[in-house]
Amino acid sequence: MSAVPSNFGPRLEPAAASDESIQRVHGALLGQKPQPEPGGYSLAPLALLGFMSALILFGCIFLVHNRGGFSPLVQNRHVDPATIGTEKVELPLPDIIKSGAKLYALECVKCHQATGAGAPGAYPQLAGSDIVTGNEERLIRIVLHGLKDSFKLNGAEVVYPNKMPNFAPMAGSANTFNWSDEKIAYVLTYIRQEWGNQAPPITAERVKEIHAATADRKAEWTFGELPAK
Ligand code: HEC
Repeated sequence: MSAVPSNFGPRLEPAAASDESIQRVHGALLGQKPQPEPGGYSLAPLALLGFMSALILFGCIFLVHNRGGFSPLVQNRHVDPATIGTEKVELPLPDIIKSGAKLYALECVKCHQATGAGAPGAYPQLAGSDIVTGNEERLIRIVLHGLKDSFKLNGAEVVYPNKMPNFAPMAGSANTFNWSDEKIAYVLTYIRQEWGNQAPPITAERVKEIHAATADRKAEWTFGELPAK
């Protein structure tokens, strides 16, 4: 006769009941999570650790080969790596025009319209305007500081009741456009090549140069103050 009555508790020899391997088997049968071998590891976390170590290693190797001095310019596919560090990087023309179109749609469109035709009696046309396709400096100054009073458009004297607002910051002006020289260059390049207009691009350098020369301007230009054709 065993010391344990057959109707109570596991039918195990006391020696077997204390055997850890048998306890594990029973645990598994009862749906418990298997206990790891004392001092051992279970397989799943080990595989995970291996996988993550491999990922980190791969990431480091990738970074070492592709860090490009950690310059964001390197990751920009528009940039020729040969130019980095030697000169100022400019976007290629199609991207400048795309940016210019967005800027136009953001602000200029309200007055000059998507067609560039303006609004009769209120806002002058930019499509087919000899001011848009003409003298660079005159055009840049108009967008930097604005324009007021009558002016000559395609040879005819015209008067509009409104002013053209300044897009660069200007002392005494409440306008908050505060556009950078780059933005002004982009939008001007766009309007010089849209709606059938054909004139060379305007660079940010050129806008910067003219902006620096007119930095103390405090009011919109009158046409007579601007360079002629
Ligand atoms: C709030 C309305 C308004 C906005 C916004 C505006 N303009 Fe004008 N623009 C005018 C008015 C009005 C004139 C004519 C000013 C005058 O009578 O002297 C003008 C004149 C001009 C002229 C010279 C005349 C011509 O027809 O060629 C140019 C170039 C021009 N604007 C470009 C722009 C550009 C580029 C933008 C956006 C960056 C812009 N404008 C945004 C109202 C506006």
